[in-house]
Amino acid sequence: DAKNPIRTTDPGALQMLEMIKDKNIETVYDRVVAQQPQCAFGYKGICCRICIAGPCRVKKDDGPGSRGICGASAYTIVSRNLVRMIAGGAASHSEHARHVLHTAHALVDGHADDYEIKSPAKLHKLAEKLGVATLDREDKDILRDVVEIGYADFGRYQDRPLAFLDSFMTEGRRKKFQHTNVMPRNIDGSITELIAQTAMGVDSDPVNIIFGGLKSALADLGGEYIGTNLSDVLFGIPQPIVSEANLGVINPKMVNIAVHGHNPVLSEMVVAAARAMKEDAVKAGAEGVNIVGICCTGNELLMREGVYLATSSASQEMAILTGALDAMVVDIQCIYPAVQTLAECYHTKVITTEAIMKVPGAQHIAFNTTSAMEDAKKLIRIAIEAYKNRDPKKVSIPNEKHKLVAGFSVEALTEIFSKINPERPISVLTDAILSGQLKGVCLMAGCNNLKRAQDESHNIVLKELVKNDVLVISTGCSSGAFAKFGLMSPLAVDAYAGEGLKSFIQTLEAANPQLATGLPLVFHVGSCVDNSRAVDLAVAMANELGVDIPKVPFVASAPEAMHEKAIAIGTWAVTMGFPTHVGSLPPVEGSDLIYGITTQIAHDVFGGNFIFEVDPVIGATKLIDALEYRTWKLGIHK
Ligand code: SF4
Ligand code: FE2
Repeated sequence: DAKNPIRTTDPGALQMLEMIKDKNIETVYDRVVAQQPQCAFGYKGICCRICIAGPCRVKKDDGPGSRGICGASAYTIVSRNLVRMIAGGAASHSEHARHVLHTAHALVDGHADDYEIKSPAKLHKLAEKLGVATLDREDKDILRDVVEIGYADFGRYQDRPLAFLDSFMTEGRRKKFQHTNVMPRNIDGSITELIAQTAMGVDSDPVNIIFGGLKSALADLGGEYIGTNLSDVLFGIPQPIVSEANLGVINPKMVNIAVHGHNPVLSEMVVAAARAMKEDAVKAGAEGVNIVGICCTGNELLMREGVYLATSSASQEMAILTGALDAMVVDIQCIYPAVQTLAECYHTKVITTEAIMKVPGAQHIAFNTTSAMEDAKKLIRIAIEAYKNRDPKKVSIPNEKHKLVAGFSVEALTEIFSKINPERPISVLTDAILSGQLKGVCLMAGCNNLKRAQDESHNIVLKELVKNDVLVISTGCSSGAFAKFGLMSPLAVDAYAGEGLKSFIQTLEAANPQLATGLPLVFHVGSCVDNSRAVDLAVAMANELGVDIPKVPFVASAPEAMHEKAIAIGTWAVTMGFPTHVGSLPPVEGSDLIYGITTQIAHDVFGGNFIFEVDPVIGATKLIDALEYRTWKLGIHK
């Protein structure tokens, strides 16, 4: 209806909304309407609240009203606001990485007995990259040295580049970052420096401010590298795995626990504890414990354990409205405070677990790496108790669920390619591009942003790309969208892939009879920190082609970007040399200069640029143009 226009296209969420339509339940879809019209100054980035002489707004084109009280111009205000969002994103990813690093540290120090080095292969590969000796050494000693480098990356004083960034780059990017003075030497320092740089009365030069932002964005990528690589060491390298997605995975006969947020350190333990405590659930009258994922904690567990994905960011509240969710265990990031408000109308227990993440009214169980399994079992016990209070009259679970295939780490993809060319596996991909079978690769990433209907832009961009023979890899809630709609399934290949992409996938399948499943339309490479895997693939393609990243037919898209983390990711993507589509505008329109830097000048310096385009079809077309241009430039299609 007019008062409440449709804000989601997710079939599971739509079913849920239909089921509750007579009840007086407030969700994000109501709140986003209630917020309209949103503040135009904030939207354009021209509201400054950096000191309390303000807030100052740029109200006029010229004269005193065109500047803040201190005289800051629109370009200063817009750039400061923007890079402070990058700092927020970099801090978020890096805190996540620090937690994984602490866990690895506790493991080598003998204080985390519930963890293990699940993938010695990954550890050795990582050690080699970082220049850590491996010959005749115990795995724990190798990991200790790797952890030391990780810690140094957070706080290094010496003028040396961030190891967890530098070690993974092409030679060309390494030089570019040094020459432009954006190579971070540590993570914490880059973020602090950026906050200091943008404090009242410090930097007012928009170009200098933006370059400060680039340094923090690259520190963000370094944090993601720490997060992804050490998670693989501790929990295993993802391999192709079959699972299901959307709200229909919530099982009325089981104790249902949603793990929500981003950090695998706790949720991996929850999965293990759930398996160990099946009998306790049976004693309570259930068939067992059903762990389902939401957002990136869901993606982490889907990738490594095949855990069902219940839903993604904007529809997180829907999981509670099923009335069959007994507990929602949350860690960090993208968790709506509203989940607790809704849980209070049901028997659902919301449990926070990290010291920096509490919600009024929710229970807090501090999670410690030293007592990880015990803490996880506590959570399962709370859920089993809550299950006993479940009200059958309130249970209504949408039947929507879709099969999917996930688990495509770069290692898994390389393995698949190696069945065709064992010596140069990545050439299977680059040759397909050079021959015109594929147009290139696109990383689809990012959140939901209800400025447009949930998931619609993700799906439209994907369908346009695959129809035009682009190989799509995806992360985060972009993956969530595809999974929930059945687009991450082998069945979707026939329905949506262009002839070139279809034949490419068929060739891979034919060469890989050991795979128990067909290959999907879009390849899930992991959570948001796992965008680092996409960089690994782009770097491998660059090295195979003998060029630097800006010449590789590789683009990125965040059709529904929302979080500060997405701003950080998008910014390093541009700095890496990717044309990067964003379908929800960041607050840059208040300054033509900043808009121009991000969309054009960035291209001259780094070879990548932002493509701000809210229309998903046009956005996809621009990405395809960028890929075609690069392939043409490689000198192939004459
Ligand atoms: Fe206003 Fe300048 Fe203070 Fe910003 S820093 S709030 S523009 S006086
Ligand atoms: Fe995420």
